[in-house]
Amino acid sequence: MYEDRIRCAALRGKITTAAEAALLIHDGMRVGASGFTRAGDAKAVPVALAERARQQDEPLQITLMTGASLGHDVDRMLTEAHVLARRLPFQVDKTLRDAINRGEVMFVDQHLSETVEMLRANQLGKLDVAIIEAAAITESGGIVPTTSVGNSASFAILADKVIVEINLAQPLGLEGLHDIWIPGRRPHREPLPIVRAQDRVGTPAIEIPPDKIAAIVVTDKADSPSTVLPADRDTAQIAGHLIEFFQHEVTRGRMPRQLPPLQAGIGTIANAVLAGFVDSPFDVFEIYSEVLQDSTFDLLDAGKVAFASGASITLSAERQAQVFGEIERYRDRLVLRPQEVSNHPEVIRRLGLIALNTALEFDIYGNVNSTHVGGTHMMNGIGGSGDFARNASCAIFASKSTAKDGRISSLVPMVPHCDHNEHDVDVVVTEQGLADLRGLAPRERATLIIEHCAHPRYREPLRDYYRDALRWGGQTPHCLDQAFAWHARLRDTGSMLPA
Ligand code: COA
Repeated sequence: MYEDRIRCAALRGKITTAAEAALLIHDGMRVGASGFTRAGDAKAVPVALAERARQQDEPLQITLMTGASLGHDVDRMLTEAHVLARRLPFQVDKTLRDAINRGEVMFVDQHLSETVEMLRANQLGKLDVAIIEAAAITESGGIVPTTSVGNSASFAILADKVIVEINLAQPLGLEGLHDIWIPGRRPHREPLPIVRAQDRVGTPAIEIPPDKIAAIVVTDKADSPSTVLPADRDTAQIAGHLIEFFQHEVTRGRMPRQLPPLQAGIGTIANAVLAGFVDSPFDVFEIYSEVLQDSTFDLLDAGKVAFASGASITLSAERQAQVFGEIERYRDRLVLRPQEVSNHPEVIRRLGLIALNTALEFDIYGNVNSTHVGGTHMMNGIGGSGDFARNASCAIFASKSTAKDGRISSLVPMVPHCDHNEHDVDVVVTEQGLADLRGLAPRERATLIIEHCAHPRYREPLRDYYRDALRWGGQTPHCLDQAFAWHARLRDTGSMLPA
């Protein structure tokens, strides 16, 4: 049975049920599970764990670490069963988000490149169990990941015990797509030898001693499809402004005609903007990113992108069927890496990446809030946006100029939570226009951002705020008693608009 999927014959005796495998996990343990933006997540053992927690009287609470978000409502089920004491480094689930914001689950919102770095340095405690989805186990016991690598490799290497979920719904053709490179111990670590997006520097499977594999569970479920919405007028306008900006950069000799490798963040806006590049005038370029969404494959199909490097492939249902049905077509133009490599500051800086991420809101000086609604309530997490923004050659943040039918302005006097500060943000763009902040002082930035990016309805109130702020002087003028008045009004009346 499963000779092609479990090629190390000695391990076939480890096949068991999800419920049996979940018995390896006890109250108080730290568990690392595969999964990155709904791709390649462990789909059976966490569900069995939630089921056990619901049925037993004794407490069963764990710290759960993943690559990023999970699919199949796994975070919801674990939250409802009260299994999650602590969760890191990212999530997108509404039930979990609500529990985090009620203070019931301790959420550690981390730069995605840092989780396993901290684990390796023993800063997060010992990892007890890893649950890794795999397409196959090789003759030597190597684990072949599926649609994401995320943190799976280091979880498997660092955990005491490993549970492998062999997913028959994931094509065997995924084998060979991965490049597993693990940094050495500090302080004598060697440089990360990636100098081009397509460089392969590691192994195709996660090599661990086979006797660490404590259980194998066979599953048969596709990844949850991505939830991004199609492009609309606003996202098309954002794409248009960015393409015009890049054309200027090329004309002025600041960027080559073949643009530097591009990173694009998660979500509807980044996906739609990237898709807008299909009709752009640029030469073929490369993607060095984290999540490869539908737009990556639009660009590969259009011949606009020559090569795409990522940590996961997260697709709509339609694209999933097409891409994984014809994976051979893409094989020599794709690589999936551990997220500490896809998001590694050294490579991002070396390749001179253009980083395009999405903001919830930004302020008149270019500080960006990507995570906290109203400054207090967690949305998803910072994800990889900080890894990329700080180290990119050009860090761009995009947002629609308003949210919630215009009741919220995405451009505010002062962000009530700052994920990306003014030092890391080069360009902000909305459907209204683009502000290039490079080389500008805060006072210069404020006028440019308000005039180029604000929604017309909020432009005059922003001008008023800035005029008042100037009375107080300073490098970065603010009226401290008014800086969060818009957010307070939103909290109290449901709208930032003055009554
Ligand atoms: N205040 C409150 N809610 C806001 C808001 C604001 N200023 N701006 C947007 N929203 C809401 C939208 O209304 C929408 O709500 P809905 O889901 O109820 O419709 C939701 O936030 C998503 O916004 P949307 O405009 O559709 O953008 P998106 O899907 O591209 O997501 C982020 C935007 C910021 C939430 C998302 O990109 C994110 O989580 N980023 C942080 C992580 C990251 O950047 N990772 C990338 C590294 S590779």
